[in-house]
Order: sequence, then structure tokens, then C-alpha cells
Amino acid sequence: MLTLGIETSCDETSVALLEGEKKLLSHLILSQMEHERFGGVVPELASRAHQKVLLPLVEQAFGEAKCKPEEIDLIGVTLGPGLIGSLLVGICTAKTLALSLDKPLIGVNHVEAHLMANLLLEEPPQPPFVALLISGGHTLLIKVDCWGQYLILGRSRDDAVGESFDKAAKMLGLVYPGGPAIEKAAASGNPEAFAFPRPMIKDPSLDMSFSGLKTAVLYEVEDLKKAGGFYGVLADLAASFQAAAVEVLIEKSLRACARISARTLVVAGGVARNKDLRENLTLRSDRAGIKVIFPPFNLCTDNAAMIARTALFHFRNGRTDSLDVRAYATGSLDWPTASF
Ligand code: KG4
Ligand code: ZN
Repeated sequence: MLTLGIETSCDETSVALLEGEKKLLSHLILSQMEHERFGGVVPELASRAHQKVLLPLVEQAFGEAKCKPEEIDLIGVTLGPGLIGSLLVGICTAKTLALSLDKPLIGVNHVEAHLMANLLLEEPPQPPFVALLISGGHTLLIKVDCWGQYLILGRSRDDAVGESFDKAAKMLGLVYPGGPAIEKAAASGNPEAFAFPRPMIKDPSLDMSFSGLKTAVLYEVEDLKKAGGFYGVLADLAASFQAAAVEVLIEKSLRACARISARTLVVAGGVARNKDLRENLTLRSDRAGIKVIFPPFNLCTDNAAMIARTALFHFRNGRTDSLDVRAYATGSLDWPTASF
């Protein structure tokens, strides 16, 4: 079984050829650099860049995998959530290939795909488990009873945690994307230098909030600017912000595991690349007797391997989509929410 995966929801153009469940014959990810100087993704530039590179990338993937387009059995493509113009580039390409090659098509939800990236691990996590899904658009704690069946235990009530990294980085004059920039700056900083708030950490619910933390950074930066500038303490600001965000994620994740007596915690999404989170969550989970699983770095951020794997999962469960599937920007998650 050979699956072609295509991902163009934001600012990464990615193509994967997945043989069976885990073997990646080719996996190409092109990060657009166009947005760096704007401090965030410019949608029109993103869709134009996808348009320019997607077909050459598809060709390159087939070349690398040493196979022909006729040999694929399935095409998976991200439908949303994401930037509509960018999604359309991937979807039109996938539909054209499906029609011309007469192959089945599956439209993939990008959020579920982040979680299913973990199915590509040598030893994929066995449900039941709690998943912490942390990306630029989502911050979710999910109960996974079996793959494909989800119950939302908690979520951010405002900014997603990745979004707060991006916004804090911008305030500190760091480049986009903010997560890696903050992490790098934080490496030489003191995480206790600034006492930033840990919003909702004492709240018994599993919901989170990150907009107050971002605002606290803003006020601190403004005060420091009035007093002469913040560059001397940039590393301390980054480290203190990162420590606050990471502590909230760890507390809420472990509380979610305790609440439903889960022994395994699976992390997914771009923020799962953060080393401070990886180290401290592993340490704290070990102490609590919980096994924590992170995908490798290239499967945390946006990639087509997770799209191919998710398409394969649904195909094997008897689903195929018509060529009428459409892109969606938001509002795609119909997963139920726990009532506690
Ligand atoms: O999952 P992803 O690639 O795209 C979305 O679906 O949103 O996540 C992107 C987010 C960005 O907000 C980025 O700043 C954040 O993940 N991120 C990080 C790190 N690497 C990426 N956040 C913290 N530390 C990192 N090392
Ligand atoms: Zn993503």
C-alpha cells in the first residue's frame, strides 16, 4: 500500500510517500522563508509560494522514492484548518492527481493528523492515553480511548500556546516563528528572573489560558523600554516566559492523566519540539509513574507524513472521499467535550 500525502495548510509545503504504515520512501518539507521579515505568515505570499514549489516537490518525492505516480494506492491531503488559499493549492493538486490517476482521495483534518503522527513511531502508543496537542492554532488535552475516537478534556480558552510563543517573540524583537527563537534566546537566560503569571494553573478545570501571560510580557517590555531598553535582559525574559508556559502545560497534562487514571501521555504539534518541555515533562511524568511519548522533531511541526498516515487510517476504516471535498479555515473539530 503506497500513500501520497500532501500538506499545505500554512507555511510549510510538504509531500510524503508512505509505504505501508511506517516506511517513508520520501518525506520532503519546505519551510517558506518569505514571512520572516513580516513577523508572521502573510496568507497571499504563502499560497503563491505553495503554488510555485508543490509540483516540483511532488516530482522530487517520486524521484527519491524511485516509483511512478501510477503506483500509488491512495492520496491524502489536508482539508483544514488552515489558510484557505494555501489549502486550495494542495487540495486542487490532490484532486487533479486522484482524477487523472483514478486513485482514491481522503481529505484529512490537520489537527487529528498531528496526533496521528505518533502512529509513525516504531512503537506507536496504545490507547487509552491522554494526548497533549500543542500547535500554533490549538492547545488541547484529549482522552483517546481508541484511535479515531476523541474526548476533549481541556483546551486553551484564548490564545494557543504556540501562538503565545509567536506573539511573545515578536514583542522581544525575535524572528518568526517565535517558538524556536524564544527557545534559543532562553538557553542563556534565567527562568526565575521575571515572575510571569501561570494563568489558570490553580483552576481545577483542565482548561488553560495564555493571553494573560503574553500581556504580562508586553507590560514588562514596555516598562523596561521606558527605563532604557530590554536587550540586556532579553534572554531572561525569554527564559521566564518559556518557564511559565511550560509549567502550565505540565501541570494540566499531569492533572488530566490523574483525572482519568491514564498511565500514558502522548504529545503532538509544533510546540512539542520545545526541549525545556520535553525534558521537564519527562522528568515530572517519570516521577508520577506516567510514560510520556513525543514524536521526533520533524513529525512535530507541519509535515505530509502525518497526513499520509491519517489518510491511510481512515481508508482502512472504509472511508473514501468524493472529489467535492472542500477546504475549511476553522471550526472543523466535532469532537465531544468532557463535562467536568
Ligand atoms: O504544529 P505546527 O507546526 O503548526 C500548526 O498547526 O500550528 O506548530 C507551529 C507552532 C508555532 O507557533 C511555533 O512557534 C511553535 O509551533 N514551535 C515551538 C517550537 N518549535 C515550533 N514552540 C516552542 N518551542 C519550539 N521549539
Ligand atoms: Zn500544524
